[in-house]
Order: sequence, then structure tokens, then C-alpha cells
Amino acid sequence: MTKTERTLITAALPYANGPLHIGHLAGCYLPADLYARFKRLAGEHVLFICGSDEHGVPITISADKEGVTPQVIVDRFHAMNKASFERLGISFDYYARTSSPVHRKTAQQFFLALYNGGFLVPREEPQLYDEEAKMFLPDRYVEGTCPVCSNPNARGDQCENCGTYLDQTELIDPRSKVTGSKPVIRPAKHWYFALSRFQTELEEYIESHAEDWKDNVLQAARSWLKAGLADRPITRDLSWGVPVPLEGAEGKVLYVWFDAPIGYVSATKEALAGRAGNVPAGEEDWRVWWQDNGTKWIAFLGKDNIVFHTIMFPAMLLAHNKSEKDHRYIIPANVPANEWMNLEGQKLSKSRGWTVELHEIIERYPVDVIRYAFATMLPEQKDSDFVWREFQARANNELADIFGNFANRVLTFAKRSFDNKIMGNRNELDPEGKALLDSFGEKAKEIADSYERFRLRDATAATMDLARSANKYFNDAAPWKLIKDNKDEAGKVIRSCLEALRALAVYFAPITPEASQTILATLGHSFTEETWANAHEPKLHGQTELGDGTILFPKIEDETVAGEVLRLEKMAASVASAPAAPALKPTATASANGLISIDDFKKIQLRTAKVLEAERVPKSKKLVKLQISLGQEKRQIVAGIGQKYLPEDLIGKTIVVVANLQPAKLMGHDSNGMLLAVNDENGVVALVTSAGEAAEGLEVR
Ligand code: 2FM
Ligand code: ZN
Repeated sequence: MTKTERTLITAALPYANGPLHIGHLAGCYLPADLYARFKRLAGEHVLFICGSDEHGVPITISADKEGVTPQVIVDRFHAMNKASFERLGISFDYYARTSSPVHRKTAQQFFLALYNGGFLVPREEPQLYDEEAKMFLPDRYVEGTCPVCSNPNARGDQCENCGTYLDQTELIDPRSKVTGSKPVIRPAKHWYFALSRFQTELEEYIESHAEDWKDNVLQAARSWLKAGLADRPITRDLSWGVPVPLEGAEGKVLYVWFDAPIGYVSATKEALAGRAGNVPAGEEDWRVWWQDNGTKWIAFLGKDNIVFHTIMFPAMLLAHNKSEKDHRYIIPANVPANEWMNLEGQKLSKSRGWTVELHEIIERYPVDVIRYAFATMLPEQKDSDFVWREFQARANNELADIFGNFANRVLTFAKRSFDNKIMGNRNELDPEGKALLDSFGEKAKEIADSYERFRLRDATAATMDLARSANKYFNDAAPWKLIKDNKDEAGKVIRSCLEALRALAVYFAPITPEASQTILATLGHSFTEETWANAHEPKLHGQTELGDGTILFPKIEDETVAGEVLRLEKMAASVASAPAAPALKPTATASANGLISIDDFKKIQLRTAKVLEAERVPKSKKLVKLQISLGQEKRQIVAGIGQKYLPEDLIGKTIVVVANLQPAKLMGHDSNGMLLAVNDENGVVALVTSAGEAAEGLEVR
């Protein structure tokens, strides 16, 4: 096997059309950063590239809604997202943006290469035209009735109700979102990329990775290939984007998914012009990173981007290689895409207010805590669920109680008993301490293997196991006893512990970079002598004065996470009850006959809950105070069921509650939700309970 000379790591360019959320972090950016940091520690040449994707129709729609230019929107969110990444320690060597002149030029050159090579062919196809606005309508600027399921609000590219991909001309009763008028069909000229010519080559490419790519990625790519690749239009009638560099193409821009991946190349050009990151001398030419077989390109991204990185962009690069034979691009060596991360059992959704945005979470928790907790919950093989209680448990029971605790115990001991100095020299470890470090060396190889196979959750768990074994060593050696009779021996134990702490700081560096930095500084040491492979070798200089050992990872309180869940529910409830934003589309509103729409009904969150405790509210005949569990969350509700039920009969029952009701006080007792019961004119007749075995916290529809 030839050794990789350099690793090019890209992370999908996020749209600068809104704040990023925890799903983005877990799906793409944290895994990419863990890998990049690991690779750098392993001593490889790495270039880690990302940036804002600043084109595409959703951005122009946001701009239209606010009555500003698209540039205003992308400036705002480029700055915001870039700042979030910086705060989270995502160590891009360069964070670009696709509205830059270098990108525009690169994308246009790329287009021309493919055009001259005969891979981009003009075609006239019918398209919807708004005669009032005098413009062809991009797919997302039209709505109409879905020909498959009759949803009256299907978009021009897809019906969100039944999921069918549509051609805009298939919509029944189309409406322009620009003027509300009915568009007409006119022939429009666009350039089509000859994707179908790459069917066989791409099949061979994907199958050549049958052993080393993740299953979810292989499956997605294979299913596209199985459906058969069709040529695709890669130009659009819009003013926002990279202009099509041909005469007669005025008013047309490149389709966003044509220009965005070229953004990786233009970002590299910009990065190297400024000698970004750790690029070694001799590798400043962007072509070395993109057109040399010694480069291994790893493309990190989320599930919805798989097809573009395994089919579309590779085909574009192969087409370029056939068009300009002297400069041949590489294609991804691996595309370790993740699945989705859900939030407290539900899909993340900005529009439903069920989300945690990155700029918020970094205000409330230390970066290392966020990074560690998410690294344990990555949706690597299948969708994962982010639960605040688990976040707390990971932070407190693992990061603080194992890694943080080891650091504190060792540093405190050295401070108290050894003058706050590193004692002895690096050859003076006790045999068990030496064995511990040797075992680190062995385990580090396994962890490296997990990183290389993109098993980052395994890598994280195994790294925490190293800290566990360090704690065990400390406990077994019991230096607090040893020191009473044999200060020398105790000194050796503490030196071993300090070396172990140094090594742990290195192994944890991809996951908790800030803590690692703090530990090494406390030990009077730095990363310059450290690599992944030699971290287990003792290196600390004797007699070094130790810096201030502080608590590395503060614990997260119960109330704090309870507050997070409440915040989420409140946000979702307020979004649900907010008046609908004025839209171009005619929205169906509540009717005079008392009927509500399915959307209105969906605003009520009904969930199963288990009754844990129940007691009468003193001085009330009717009210019972219940402690209930909705899975991860416990709550108190007060219900008027006391005349029908004895409190003790309620315990253990699975009931149904309205989970997103505004909190209330009943006779001075907080009630956070409402249970459902059948009533007649005399009051409660029966509780609504689950007929079969149902877990608590489930949605009731
Ligand atoms: O899904 C997205 O957020 C896209 N903006 C990703 C683009 S990745 C690349 F090709 F630039
Ligand atoms: Zn439909």
C-alpha cells in the first residue's frame, strides 16, 4: 500500500441562509474536525477546507421576504456561521465563500472546460414563465397542486406531502410565488450536463469502494445508479449566482449544485494564496491538492448531500479530465457521510421551532463539553437522538468524573505532597505506571484505526477508556497511602500519573482541544514534541513547576437541562401559535364551520406519559397532583380527576397528555401539561390510557 502523502479534507459548504444547528454539527462538521485534528497529530499533511455556499434559490427567497438583496442575507449568515465554527474549535485551514471573485472565475472556467469538451449541451424545454414579472420561474418560485397526491401546495421541484420529485410543468393550477398569477409555458434554453455518459464509470468507481466506504453511502449511491443517470440542466434563469459565461446566456446563472462543489477548489486556491494552516513548503500549489495522485480526498457531509459527492461532482470532475487531459482531478477517496441527528425524539425542524442552534449552545456550555458529548452521539451508522439528559450524563459522568477527575486528583496530589513540582525524571516510573503508558501506546494504535475507518464514536469511547484505566492505576497504586512510608515510591507513581495525564491530553486533543491545551500548559509542556505515535513515551522534565490545575469540566446541573427541554417546548409552542407569516401563497385559514385543518391539529403535542407518583391536593376534592415521566423528562401536572380515581390507582398507568400547554398554577401547585380524560355532564368518566404496551414519551396522533 502506498502511503498517503497528503490528505485533503472537505466539509460540505453550508448555505449562508440561516444559522446552523446541532444536526449540522453532528452530521458533518464535528466528524470532519475530529478527523482533521487526528490526522495532523498523526503527522500527515492536511488541508481542511470549508466555506459558505452563497447561491441557490432559497437565499433569493429569503432576500425577497425581507426586501433586501441576497448579498445582505449571505453576509449576515456567513459571518454568523463562521463565528460559530471558530468558537467550536472547528479547525478549518480556510473558510471561503462562493460569492468571491476567485470562485466565480473558477466555476466559469470549469463550465467552459466541460462545454468545450462537449459535456454541456444546450436544449430547449418547456418552462413556466410569469408574464407579469417577465421572468422564467425557478422551481421554488412556483406552487401548484401535486399530480400524484393532490396536495394544493406542492413546490415546483418536489411535493413535500408525498415526496414525489416533480417537473414544474407537471403542477396542476400552477401559481407564481412572485406575483401570484398563473404562469404560462414557454420554451426555455438551458445547458444540460451529460451525466448519463458516466453511468458505467461511476458504477465502477462506487464498486471499487465496496469494502472501504460506509454502508449508508454505498446504498445511496447504488440506488441512484440503479435508477439510471439522466442528463441534467445545470443552468437557471436567475440573477443571483455565477453567470453562465457564454454569449446568448444573459440572465442565466449556474445551478447552485454545479457551482458549490467547485467551491472546494476555489477555496483551496484562496487558502494557498494566503498560505493557510499547516501547508508545508512545496505544497502551496492548489494543483498538488487536487490533481496529484498522492492526495487522498475525504469529503465529509450529511446524508442529503451524498448523491452530489458520489455521483454528480465526481462525474463533473471526470468530464473535466476528459476535456483537459493534462490536468486530471482526483475524485473522493472516501465520503464518510453521516445520517440525521434527531432532537429529543423528534426530527429537528427550524420551522417547527424544534431545534438547537449552534450560536445558542455555545453561549451556554463549554466547547469541550459540547464536542465530547456530540462525539459520543454521532449518527454514524444510523440516525441518532440528541437528548439533553444524555448530554448531561456524558458531560458529568464521563468527561468530568473520569478524565477531569483524573487530572484534578493527580495535580492536587502533586501540589500538596510534592511542592507543586514534577518529581524525578522521565526514566523513573514505577513498573505499573510504565505498563500503563505502554498499554496507551497499544490502545492508541487501535484508536487510530477507528479514526481511519471513520468510527469516531468508537474512537471517542476508547479514548475515554484510556482515562478510565488511568484512574484505575491511581486507585490501585493508592499514593495517599504509599506516601506515608515511602515518599520516593509515591513520587514515582505521581510522575507516572503526570505522564499519563500528558499522554491523555494528546489523545483527547481531537475531541477536547481546549482542555488538552490547558493540561499541557499546566505541565509546562507543549504539543511540539508530541505525535499520536509517541504520546505514550515519557517526556516531562523533572522539577518543572506545575501551573494552576483548575477544574477542567464544570458539571451540568439538573435544572439546567430541565430548562433546555422546557425552552424547546416553549419555542415549539410559540411557533405553533404564532400567526402564519404573510406568504405569497393563498393559505387555507380556519373555517367558519368550526372545522380545523390537519395543521391546526398538529400544533397540539399529545404524548404518552407514565404516572410515577400521585397525591391529593390538600383541601381539594377534585385535584390530584401527578409526577409523570415523558421518557427523558419528568414533570408535574395537576388534574381534576380526584372524584373518579384514587391517587394510588393511578401510579404506573400510561396516560396521554398535552405536552405543549402553557404552564399553569392550580391551587398554588404548578401544572405543566394536561391529561386527557373522557367527560360527561358530571365530570370525568375515564382516563385516556394506552390500550397496548406503550413506552412513555411517544407521540399520539
Ligand atoms: O446542503 C447544503 O448545505 C449544501 N450547501 C452543501 C453544498 S456542499 C458542496 F458541494 F459545496
Ligand atoms: Zn404529492
